[in-house]
Amino acid sequence: MSNNPNFQPLNLLEYESLASQHLSQMAFDYYASGAWDEVTLRDNRAAFDQFRLRPKMLVDVSKRNLTTTILGHILQFPLLIAPMAFQCLANPEGELATARAAAKAGVGMILSTLATKSIEEVAQASLNSSPSPLNWFQLYIHRDRGLTQALIERASSAGYKALCLTVDAPLLGRRERDQRNHFSLPSGMQLANISSSGLGISHSDTESDLFTYFAYQLDPSITWKDLEWVQSISPLPLVLKGILRADDAVRAVEAGAKAIIVSNHGGRQLDGAIASLNALSEVVDAVAGSVDVLVD
Ligand code: LAC
Repeated sequence: MSNNPNFQPLNLLEYESLASQHLSQMAFDYYASGAWDEVTLRDNRAAFDQFRLRPKMLVDVSKRNLTTTILGHILQFPLLIAPMAFQCLANPEGELATARAAAKAGVGMILSTLATKSIEEVAQASLNSSPSPLNWFQLYIHRDRGLTQALIERASSAGYKALCLTVDAPLLGRRERDQRNHFSLPSGMQLANISSSGLGISHSDTESDLFTYFAYQLDPSITWKDLEWVQSISPLPLVLKGILRADDAVRAVEAGAKAIIVSNHGGRQLDGAIASLNALSEVVDAVAGSVDVLVD
């Protein structure tokens, strides 16, 4: 099918298959891979494959409406694009194209700390779209708290509507495909929001550059206490991404989170973790409507 140059993908699996033909092995593997044996990566999709609906009949559907609100903002469709790093690996427009597309479709976008376009450029890309864009900023807490604080301040000044703190990646999951490819950013491509720029700050011959980046730059000691610090410097509502248990969900609400993203980081962190979809009902029950809950 996709040897035909006029082939138009109709669904995500077809995009994935096209991507495997068009991207470098290193880029494709980075996007597609999970941690270790990729058990959780496979489980995520299997959980959706096994999920079944019980449709109700004889309901008037002549007018259909998929809008919803999230943290008080309207979405035309109940979706935010998850934070994904290094989007320029797929296209030179990178995160700018994603922001424009999200705004056009009336869905949200969560910009990764490890974006290859800047916080301000991405905000600008969708500035004049209607309905007005819903962008959140995903944060990794770096050992350098000044740098972390500057990221929060920039996201807030640029009009991002929430701060999405990833809590499942104090260290990077071991991704064997990245290790084998010795994943690194091509020359000229940079972490647009981190002034030390390239990933290869502490170059290693045996690890992916991202693995090394996490090991040296991110703070593996963060705990619930650090949420106080984040909230003390952030005017934005806090969203915790990476919650998989009822007790953590309750704690997240107690700690001030305004929304929770049930996620195992796309199977890229702890292999063997429960599929995100299978953890959803436990979290929804635990928070009992007190905060918005999303599933990755
Ligand atoms: C990843 C990190 C960067 O999963 O979020 O690759």
